[in-house]
Amino acid sequence: MSPSYQITEHHYDVVIVGAGGAGLRATLGMSASGFRTACITKVFPTRSHTVAAQGGIGAALGNMEEDNWRFHMYDTVKGSDWLGDQDAIEYLCRNAIPAVIELEHFGVPFSRTPDGKIYQRPFGGHTADYGKKLVSRACAAADRTGHAILHTLYQQSLKHQAEFFVEYIALDLVMSADGSCVGVLAWCLEDGSLHLFRGHQTVLATGGYGRAYFSCTSAHTCTGDGNAMALRAGLPLQDMEFVQFHPTGIYGAGCLITEGTRGEGGYLTNSAGERFMERYAPSAKDLASRDVVSRAMTVEINEGRGVGPLKDHIFLHLEHLPAATLHEKLPGISETAKIFAGVDVTREPIPVLPTVHYNMGGVPTNYHAEALRPTASDPDAVCPGLMAIGEAACVSVHGANRLGTNSLVDLVVFGRAAALRTAELIKPGAAHKPLAKDATDQALARFDRHRQAAGKYGTAELRLRLQRAMQTHCAVFRDGKFIAEGIHAVAEIRSDSRELGISDRSLIWNSDLVEALEYDNLLAQAEVTLACAHNRTESRGAHSREDFPNRDDEKWMIHSLAWHDGAVAGAVAGGDVKSPRLGSRPVHNYTLTDEVEYIPPKPRVY
Ligand code: FUM
Repeated sequence: MSPSYQITEHHYDVVIVGAGGAGLRATLGMSASGFRTACITKVFPTRSHTVAAQGGIGAALGNMEEDNWRFHMYDTVKGSDWLGDQDAIEYLCRNAIPAVIELEHFGVPFSRTPDGKIYQRPFGGHTADYGKKLVSRACAAADRTGHAILHTLYQQSLKHQAEFFVEYIALDLVMSADGSCVGVLAWCLEDGSLHLFRGHQTVLATGGYGRAYFSCTSAHTCTGDGNAMALRAGLPLQDMEFVQFHPTGIYGAGCLITEGTRGEGGYLTNSAGERFMERYAPSAKDLASRDVVSRAMTVEINEGRGVGPLKDHIFLHLEHLPAATLHEKLPGISETAKIFAGVDVTREPIPVLPTVHYNMGGVPTNYHAEALRPTASDPDAVCPGLMAIGEAACVSVHGANRLGTNSLVDLVVFGRAAALRTAELIKPGAAHKPLAKDATDQALARFDRHRQAAGKYGTAELRLRLQRAMQTHCAVFRDGKFIAEGIHAVAEIRSDSRELGISDRSLIWNSDLVEALEYDNLLAQAEVTLACAHNRTESRGAHSREDFPNRDDEKWMIHSLAWHDGAVAGAVAGGDVKSPRLGSRPVHNYTLTDEVEYIPPKPRVY
């Protein structure tokens, strides 16, 4: 029997969960199309993690030198180590150009060239003419591009009648008996009330789960709540083994120092003062793809050439750059380096370390943003009523490794795509079908179990153990035996989670309960990440197995899928917990149109 909670029911055409760049672009598109749209968000929209994106948004505008969306597509496919779906990548790169122009018209204050065009800077893995030379493709608003985009999209959303439900915690998807999604159950922190938001389309825009790791550039809110809700709804997650480490997180603090610093001429050195990237990526050097740079830095440290008293990090040099460049193009990171590393970037190098930054995996979708429920006979089958966008989704445009700047463009291109598809599928104002009486029972039971949890372990203690296990066992370099030890360590943490205890049982502003629910979400995602990492016996993109050092296209040019029925009851439930169940679906080895050809796999050198 379900615990007795009063639930207020709301009827909307569309319910969007999350108000970062993707959620806001979808909210704007849906409401502008006449849909009654609710956007539910656990933080105020302009505090969403998109605000922290720094270096730029990728689009082949060609403002600095010749560029073409086909070059952008080539770079993205190569960056993905051929795991990206090429129909979706074509969609992304073609639409990147109008998407950025649209942002400019919405009011994003981009930096400018002397003749007034949007300023673009070089970034890792961005080339012209199919890899022949580096190109400036990252459209930048100084080093605060995400901040500028997020604020602009929020202002635009307010112009249409989108309704925002701020500081509401999404608890679970609500599914109908036929397997379609019909809305979401949420908890309002301000007054403790519970709400059922019915929508003909529910859109997950909940971001990544960087906080499953000890050191990440992600905000504390990045707990992948939508991914975990999808797992509990019986849907799989895709390619969860691919976790991106950004080469330049500040040593110790983890804060991002944008790749745009290297785009503006910054470089990395080891303890011998050597610009070691020249050995690892002779052409692109410090502007090779992120996985390549992060691995090179890790090798330097592991072989004793790290800097600092413990020889456990690397230096990023900006002190040779003109003061005007630092002041105009990189003001934010100059401040961040001062605050978090005590470094004056005009005089000293910044201590940096590869740090978890992005999840390539997430809810599998097609390029219309529709969530997939793959079956053996139809790997592209859609889950009606559910969409996913942004870092929560795996479209898959990033494959095994995302190129810098492709996340911001992913947010706006697929946020817009979700609204376009919804306009094809539903009519504004359609009635909602009655729901089964027990439709929310499972979600309420999990919520209540966490609320009543009275065991001996605090959330912070369990979460720290989980973060340390992930950082140790599933990092830049991996190995089967070591991942298996990680799986064992996390199984013990799950077992101890039955004795999780929270001290506050109220429903109003209960941050203790919020953190316990977020921890539950992180735990489920950590389990599927480890299971997929263990299963994939090859090295591709960000997944680098020391025991399987080569890419194996014959066996592994497939997307990993992981279901996790064991996560349904939540961390504090008793009983044995089943391990994730694994499967796969084919990579789309075809393009969207015949205006561009499929790019066949080849060795990936920079
Ligand atoms: O380095 C950066 O500015 C990050 C950009 C990105 O992840 O796309």
